[in-house]
Amino acid sequence: MPLLCVNVDHVATLRQARLGQEPDPVLGAHEAELGGAAGIIVHLREDRRHIQDRDVEILRRTVNTKLNLEMAATSEMQQIALTIGPESVCLVPEKRQELTTEGGLNCAGREGELQVFLAPLIERGMTASLFIDADPAQILAASQTGAQFIEIHTGHYANAKTPAAKKVEMDKILMGIRYAQDLGLKVNLGHGLGYVNVLPFAHVPGVCEYSIGHSIMARAIYVGIRQATREMADIVRCFAD
Ligand code: PXP
Repeated sequence: MPLLCVNVDHVATLRQARLGQEPDPVLGAHEAELGGAAGIIVHLREDRRHIQDRDVEILRRTVNTKLNLEMAATSEMQQIALTIGPESVCLVPEKRQELTTEGGLNCAGREGELQVFLAPLIERGMTASLFIDADPAQILAASQTGAQFIEIHTGHYANAKTPAAKKVEMDKILMGIRYAQDLGLKVNLGHGLGYVNVLPFAHVPGVCEYSIGHSIMARAIYVGIRQATREMADIVRCFAD
C-alpha cells in the first residue's frame, strides 16, 4: 500500500505572513498524523520563507511517524540534517524567485558531487531521495549517487492543460517509475497532486509514497488538517501496491 506523506510548509507560510507564532506547523503536523499521514515533510529553504530552523528542531522531537527534510544540496543544509537527524532527506533545487519548487534537480553530470554530499547523511542512517523530472538521463544519474529513492516531479502532469498533454506527462511518469525500479531505485511521487488529479495513479504499481502539501492545506481551510489529510489518506490507501 502506498503511503501518504504530508508537507506542512503552508502552515508556516501563513504564520510568516505576520511573522508571529500562529498557526504552528508543529501542531499542523500533529493534526496530519492524526488524520493518517505516514510521514511529515518540511522544506527548510535557504531564505527561510516558511519553515524555520526551530520548526525542524521541534518536529524532530514531536513527529511520531517519520520526518522528511526537503533541502537544497548546500553545506549549511547538510550540517542541519546531520544535527537534526530526520528519517529521510530529499534534495530539491532552489531558486530565490520561485513561488514553489519549479522543476527537478539536475543530477546528470553531478553524480559524483551528489554522492559525496549524500554519503554522510546515508552513513548517519537517513534515507536519501532526489526530486527529479521523469527524464531517463536524470533517473540514470540519480541511480549513481547512492540515493535509495527518487521522487518524480509530478508538477508538469498537474499543470498540463489538456487531456492530451496530461497523457504525455503521465506516460513519462509511468516510464520513469519502471526505469527507476529497473535501476534498483524506489519511487515516490509529488508536487501539484490533489484529490482529483491523483486518481489516475490508482492503478499504477510501485509508488512508495505520495508527497502532498498544497491541496491538503487548501482543503484544510474548510475542514481542518486532520480531516483533509484523512480524505487524501483514504484515497491513497486504495491505490495499487
Ligand atoms: N515534493 C517536493 C519535492 C516539493 O518541493 C513539494 C512542494 O513543497 C511537494 C512535493 C508538495 O507539492 P504540493 O505542495 O504541490 O503538494
